[in-house]
Amino acid sequence: MPSGEAVKAWYNQLYATKGLGSMRPREAYQRILDLLDLRPGDRLLDVSCGAGFLLEAAAARGVKAYGVDLSDEAVHLARGVARNAGLAVSNGEHLPFRDAAFDCLTCLGSLEHFLDMEQGLREMRRVTRAGARCAIMVPNRHFAGWWLLGRKGTAQQDVQERLLSLGEWSRLFTGHGFALLRTLPDLWHAEKVRVPVVRSLVRLAWRLIPLPLQYQFVFVLRRA
Ligand SMILES: C[S@@+](CC[C@H](N)C(=O)[O-])C[C@H]1O[C@@H](n2cnc3c(N)ncnc32)[C@H](O)[C@@H]1O
Repeated sequence: MPSGEAVKAWYNQLYATKGLGSMRPREAYQRILDLLDLRPGDRLLDVSCGAGFLLEAAAARGVKAYGVDLSDEAVHLARGVARNAGLAVSNGEHLPFRDAAFDCLTCLGSLEHFLDMEQGLREMRRVTRAGARCAIMVPNRHFAGWWLLGRKGTAQQDVQERLLSLGEWSRLFTGHGFALLRTLPDLWHAEKVRVPVVRSLVRLAWRLIPLPLQYQFVFVLRRA
């Protein structure tokens, strides 16, 4: 297993090289916020916020948005993108917030990179109030496309990435005090096709993939 410093250095290098180009486009984050029943004035924490697109979108909905990321470069970018958000460089396994501080929480494409996922989940539970809505996006060990791609996982396998199955993720979340509300496929590979007609076709085909074989899962959870 790499050290925390090695993981941080890897992401700092990524953000320094690719900048905002490392992020999904802004509209992708709107779809995540739509799942959370947000109300103006809610306090939202985005754990591993990257360059801050979700925080920017949340603040525009009247939400008090806070973000943390292990990478100083990511937080530097996020300060430029999400000007009204509270931001800090922080390890997700040790969040710098009081207990029950948040009404909702997001963690997208990141938990699988934590050196200690269980400690990360304990911290997410600690800083959210009872009943808080959460959206956590994580990758699938059984994605049907891994064999086509000739590898299992993303480029982040080079540093730290764990893939679990739908059942394993579900048990991990419920075992840490989060009730499952919905589980949706991440349609990103379909959504990013540029030609509209082709995009619709790919989206349709992608939806036919059974959930246990999808690329990533978006878990909508309620903090029990
Ligand atoms: C694939 S990026 C996703 C960024 C953002 N959530 C998004 O959806 O665009 C993974 C992020 O996890 C962060 N990360 C990795 N390990 C972390 C940890 N232990 N604590 C906090 N952030 C971490 C990285 O710095 C990086 O910004």
